[in-house]
Amino acid sequence: LLSEEEMLREIERLRVERKAVILAHNYQRPEVQRIADFVGDSLGLARKAAETDAEVIVFAGVHFMAETAAVLNPSKTVLLPNLEAGCSLADTLTAADVRAWKAQNPDGLVVVYVNTTADVKAEADYCVTSGNAVQVVASLPEDRKIFFAPDMFLAAHVERQTGRKLDVWLGECHVHAGIRPEHIDAQRAEHPEAEFLIHPECGCASHAIYNFPDTPLLSTEGMIHHARRSEASAFIVVTETDMVHRLEQEVPGKTFIPVHRSARCEYMKMITLENVYETLRDLSNRVSVAPELAERALKPIERMIAIG
Ligand code: 13P
Ligand code: SF4
Repeated sequence: LLSEEEMLREIERLRVERKAVILAHNYQRPEVQRIADFVGDSLGLARKAAETDAEVIVFAGVHFMAETAAVLNPSKTVLLPNLEAGCSLADTLTAADVRAWKAQNPDGLVVVYVNTTADVKAEADYCVTSGNAVQVVASLPEDRKIFFAPDMFLAAHVERQTGRKLDVWLGECHVHAGIRPEHIDAQRAEHPEAEFLIHPECGCASHAIYNFPDTPLLSTEGMIHHARRSEASAFIVVTETDMVHRLEQEVPGKTFIPVHRSARCEYMKMITLENVYETLRDLSNRVSVAPELAERALKPIERMIAIG
């Protein structure tokens, strides 16, 4: 068994030997964020995956993110250190569900969140992330009906911002839906001077907006930009708990308070230093998407990368 120090040295060595890049989502364990070549939100990670010249992409994130990287890089090796790292939100929607809506709405447009499987994306016209969902929907023709899936809280945010009425799939992420209005009220009472940084997947987002006007809803990367620009020196971080680590790295000198330590995505935590090391060593846990499916999923993913 290797010590942590030995493992870190081996990861360094193998990263060069395998011509690999390690991409990590903002919700990864702090020690995994530290060894990554790039840490970011879903949009930033997809962009990095699209432009990398590495031969191997080790995706420290969840399955749909690795699939997106595989669609963008059919000739590269995409590895997910634990293939069980899924997403409760992506699990709520199947390609058959999307086809059923399209059968009833042949002139409609399908907009899916990046948190979906590749076969769902293959049925979509547009793919979006929390960082560009509003812009994408705002740009669509007024006379077309829009199916927006699978996150109902993000859909509500997009409806508020664009004034458009959407056909909404009632899916949710268990981590963000689990953040309750009473959690944010309790933190606000304890830190009245702190500003909120709220992710649009949160079940408490509407409560926050109506009770604390001017509260912006932000993608995880948007939180970093907002915290840098804001006059405030303390922030209540209303999303997955390890986002606090990323904010502390990127915006030193300011205070970040996790809304509730129970807001923890166990799928994201399935990636560890140890399985990153083993994956690099064995080139195991490959994620690939069948060429016919990848071809259909590519268009909505490319649109997502281009906008926002
Ligand atoms: P972003 O990092 O794109 O804001 O998404 C959050 C999320 O829940 C990813 O699973
Ligand atoms: Fe999926 Fe929620 Fe985990 Fe993000 S935090 S990966 S949406 S389960």
